[in-house]
Amino acid sequence: MACTGRELRSTLSEDGTLRLSLEQVTYADPAPDEVLVRIEAAPINPSDLGLLLGPAQIDTLRTEGAAENPAVVFDVPQARLGSMKARLGRSMPVGNEGAGTVVAAGADAAQLIGKRVAAIGGAMFADYRLLKARDVVELPEGTAAADGAAIFVNPMTALAFVETMRREGHSAIVHTAAASNLGQMLQKICLADGVPLVNIVRSEAQAVILKEIGATHVLNSQDADFRAKLTDAIAETGATLAFDAIGGGSLGSDIVQAMEAAAVRTMAEYSRYGSDQFKQLYIYGALDLAPTTLNRLAFGFQWSVSGWLLLPFFRKAGMETLAAMRQRVLAELTTTFASRYTRTIGLAEALQPEVVRAYERKATGEKFLIDPGLG
Ligand SMILES: NC(=O)c1ccc[n+]([C@@H]2O[C@H](COP(=O)([O-])OP(=O)(O)OC[C@H]3O[C@@H](n4cnc5c(N)ncnc54)[C@H](OP(=O)(O)O)[C@@H]3O)[C@@H](O)[C@H]2O)c1
Repeated sequence: MACTGRELRSTLSEDGTLRLSLEQVTYADPAPDEVLVRIEAAPINPSDLGLLLGPAQIDTLRTEGAAENPAVVFDVPQARLGSMKARLGRSMPVGNEGAGTVVAAGADAAQLIGKRVAAIGGAMFADYRLLKARDVVELPEGTAAADGAAIFVNPMTALAFVETMRREGHSAIVHTAAASNLGQMLQKICLADGVPLVNIVRSEAQAVILKEIGATHVLNSQDADFRAKLTDAIAETGATLAFDAIGGGSLGSDIVQAMEAAAVRTMAEYSRYGSDQFKQLYIYGALDLAPTTLNRLAFGFQWSVSGWLLLPFFRKAGMETLAAMRQRVLAELTTTFASRYTRTIGLAEALQPEVVRAYERKATGEKFLIDPGLG
């Protein structure tokens, strides 16, 4: 029997307002190959905020509408609407990943009824989600929804960084915003797999988090001698690959420059073209929305700067690699890949102004989890 539930939606209008609201949705009965999942936990990741809040100016936040079903509204600068044309006027569901219990299933998926599953399917900030049975992962017996809610985005990305390193012929990694949820997972993987990792953070408190995990190289970008220390750490580890979550500003450039400086140290003779060492910087996040500055004349000529995204990696990696990665995540769900949440909120709470301001900060160790069952 069809059921109804709420979905958190983000709508950007031509007049430059962005509106967050809860919309009632009717879910059809599952087709033979589908399951209906009652969502019990869904993390708010930075990529979700990219869709949820988009280019909104947070300091313009205000509420509108009836008290029992309020909407949160923001202004968006006109200059930023141009790149958003494809979503103008569209009520967009949000939430990349989550976990829940299968409450109904088509004839071919009946064995999943009552099972707790996880999925990366979009529209997870909702009471229910209709999914293809092949797109859900059955969680190990007894797994709490909160433990299974975030098994895709950060764990698979952290594993994919190491896989990318191996495939592209590098032997060590530099990582920025390194005390993030993802960064802590990456450090644990690198320790287990014997991969040297140079972590870059922006506070001492973040350095402590990584050192407690067992990190050897943790550099604070705020230190006066940061660049010198970065070159030394790169020379020591041989890192020629960097993953940068920040994107804006010049930190990525500093890293490539330090890689070149480390490579030049080993050259017997000067070359006006710089070293022969190939250096790869992948920008995989947008924590800083400012333009990226590249001091390229300090890089030599063997370098590349590109974007990096998990889904294209999935397409390239092949089924066998993906299955092995997924298996490892499930086996180390509460250790290497454990996510900690600062607060669990209901769907309605996700629209309260002080809560929006808190999760929008994307601060270290302050990840929010949505449990629609809380209201
Ligand atoms: N490309 C992909 O496929 C992909 C996949 C997964 C994740 N990601 C990206 O991975 C990153 C980490 O995600 P997460 O869920 O692990 O994040 P998280 O746990 O929410 O942590 C965010 C971290 O970023 C830091 N940060 C925020 N703004 C910053 C800035 N302007 N400069 C430097 N540091 C800043 C925070 O430090 P403070 O406390 O100092 O603010 C915090 O340590 C995000 O950028 C996300 O979009 C990308």
